[in-house]
Amino acid sequence: ESSVMGQIVALCKRRGFVYPASEIYGGIRGFWDYGPLGILLKNNIRDWWWRQMVLCPPIGPDGHPVDMVGLDSAIIQHPRTWEASGHVAGFNDPMVDDIGVSRYRADHMFGMFAAGADVPVATCVASSLGEAAEMIATDKKLQKLFGLRNVEVAERNEAGVTAVKASYKGQPFEGTILCLYPPAREGLFPTYPSPSTGEVGKLTDPRAFNLMLDTYPGPIRDEANKAYLRPETAQGIFLNFKNVVDTTRVKVPFGVAQVGKSFRNEVTPRNFIFRSREFEQMEMEWFCPPDDALMWYDFWKHERMKWWESLGVAKENLKFRDHDKDELSHYSKATVDIEYKYPFTAPDFGELEGIAHRGSYDLTQHQEHSKQKLDYFDQELQLRLKEQGIAPEEIKARSRYIPNVIEPASGLTRAVLVLLCEAYTVDAARPSGVYLKFKPKFAPIKAGIYPLVAKDGMPEVAEKLYLDLRNRFTCEYDPKQAIGKRYARMDEIGTPFCVTVDGDTLKDQTVTIRHRDTLQQERIGLDKVKDFLRDRVEE
Ligand code: GAP
Repeated sequence: ESSVMGQIVALCKRRGFVYPASEIYGGIRGFWDYGPLGILLKNNIRDWWWRQMVLCPPIGPDGHPVDMVGLDSAIIQHPRTWEASGHVAGFNDPMVDDIGVSRYRADHMFGMFAAGADVPVATCVASSLGEAAEMIATDKKLQKLFGLRNVEVAERNEAGVTAVKASYKGQPFEGTILCLYPPAREGLFPTYPSPSTGEVGKLTDPRAFNLMLDTYPGPIRDEANKAYLRPETAQGIFLNFKNVVDTTRVKVPFGVAQVGKSFRNEVTPRNFIFRSREFEQMEMEWFCPPDDALMWYDFWKHERMKWWESLGVAKENLKFRDHDKDELSHYSKATVDIEYKYPFTAPDFGELEGIAHRGSYDLTQHQEHSKQKLDYFDQELQLRLKEQGIAPEEIKARSRYIPNVIEPASGLTRAVLVLLCEAYTVDAARPSGVYLKFKPKFAPIKAGIYPLVAKDGMPEVAEKLYLDLRNRFTCEYDPKQAIGKRYARMDEIGTPFCVTVDGDTLKDQTVTIRHRDTLQQERIGLDKVKDFLRDRVEE
């Protein structure tokens, strides 16, 4: 529900999780700044991903931990990287919103309207009403772009589809398809290109809308010096495949993991930090023998779902969705998304992570474009085949190959959004009216350490406790403000525990621990606080 989303955005601003970038200049669309609490939350998620992926990777089917190493490649790589990867030619958003309807012939722009609505739920460019209806009924990419779900043909005659049933923002409706001209509506809507012409804007030169942001390293600003801000971290991994094989002890199958910024000139950045133009990804490329690719695809698919659950995301808010053949990316043989039930998609789900079977596409492309050999000699496979008595020529052919790649690719900044949505809990009974129910491990601040009042020796004891704890846990020490106000603020930012030093502490060396979720207070020894937090925060 959108009002919940509005409240989450407002809380993020009010408490310092996420600010609009360049706010004093009116903001800049598609860019966000992570505030003092946002950076803590984001780092906690990133560190957990790194721990589970690189430092303590899962146990493989052979009963041993899988091989995994980390990487931090440059954001700007040689521009030919993106020619080889297919991004220069193929990473185009089908949506073009900066070319007005007037650029098309009047009969080229169609919108689908729910009954009584005057804003279309989807628009496309087509050569006839029938073609437009056919596209809306069958084109999975178009449906995804506009958030249409469960689309089916309601009525069809010999001229084609005449009515479409779908759901949109959780509401079922039957859509009629109409031409959107006259020009009063010019430029109002994003559009989707025509399959019959294959492009948008037949009458004038269309502006090719590539999603990559470009830049010009060096002193000369011309085409020859054009480079791109990476739209995915993945390619930096493929470029270093050989380096990693040659300089470490990993053997196929193994993975290379990377976390970092990516940039896409999204046409419609929207839904807060869900889709932005600068964001962070957590990607892992798993290199494996082609014959085992499907087995590993299945392995990572399930490992990744377990990881999302380990963040404290409820099982019922997560699900798998297999991509249909016609919505696969240019490089992919099979892809499954892990989806989350966002407030703005509920009761439907939206993308959170993609697990793609990229085949040997990327290494083959880079091998061709760079003229460097990127194949792999699998000595262990060679030995196994020998033991099986396979003929020498066949052994030779099969033990040198270009590895296949299974890629779990997720958004770190999107994970921040998911944890915020998941944690947001309305509770009219408490002064803040709302609290963030983060799993303690991911909460930006684990404990608030407070003297009940800023006098009578209490601040000294509280500050000493804080100094003892802060090396291990992110804590806050705040001697001022009424205690109720301090508690309310901690509820709103999702701090699981508050530790309060009061008059009794000075007598019996005990403190009050307040639990965020239950509001219960218990008394424990001052010397037990560290263990108490360790048991609850580090698991
Ligand atoms: N290397 C494959 C790849 O980049 P993707 O599905 O385009 O695949 C992976 O992106 C993940 O990155 C997405 O599932 C999403 O979580 C995140 N992501 C992609 N575009 C984003 C954007 N504009 N803003 C925020 N996160 C984004």
